[in-house]
Amino acid sequence: MLPAIQNRKSVFPQFFTDKPVDKEVISKLLEAANMAPSHKKTEPWRFQVYTGAGRAKLSQTIREVYEAARAPEVRDPKVAPKFAKKVDQAPVVITVFLHRDPDESVPEWEEVAAVACAVENLWVSLDQYNLGGYWSSPGFLCGDYGQWPGTKPNERCLGVFYLGHYEMPDLPRPRGNWEDKVSWITD
Ligand SMILES: Cc1cc2nc3c(=O)[nH]c(=O)nc-3n(C[C@H](O)[C@H](O)[C@H](O)COP(=O)(O)O)c2cc1C
Repeated sequence: MLPAIQNRKSVFPQFFTDKPVDKEVISKLLEAANMAPSHKKTEPWRFQVYTGAGRAKLSQTIREVYEAARAPEVRDPKVAPKFAKKVDQAPVVITVFLHRDPDESVPEWEEVAAVACAVENLWVSLDQYNLGGYWSSPGFLCGDYGQWPGTKPNERCLGVFYLGHYEMPDLPRPRGNWEDKVSWITD
């Protein structure tokens, strides 16, 4: 197996160190994401990169999106502070968007899949820079088109990718047997 695939793992913000991540490195990660495949080459992935003081804006936006998505009587007061803490712990936070092809030339699921390919490209690229990260997809963030402030009506948030240098014990990442998920048809 390729080492990048073997070494890809979810690293959660509590394990990030304060070490900053160079903008050149973030750019390389996004360049890798941009090499993802997409049907009819719609290239439907879009990203916003939050670093440094910019992260406070993200925490504020997450709070606004949460409050818009949940009526006051069902809001959990712990949610926004929980996200603000994670954002604060991560040197880099990348919000992930689906930019739906305006002509809808391919089914939506194909564009969602293409965005996931882009995120996987980024995720498998982290290890070569000794970075770790994970994709977080809380329901209230990954809702309707145009829900994220400042995005277009054909854009929809598909979650948040936190990344940074990290110190974390090597944890097992068990998987079910691949052979149980595969049928061989040979004649
Ligand atoms: C589309 C997608 C969404 C995810 N959303 C979350 C999430 O909201 N919260 C979370 O803790 N992990 C989330 N994850 C990470 C998974 O929990 C993680 O990949 C899985 O547990 C396997 O662990 P590994 O990445 O270390 O192999 C998500 C992963 C994917 C692919």
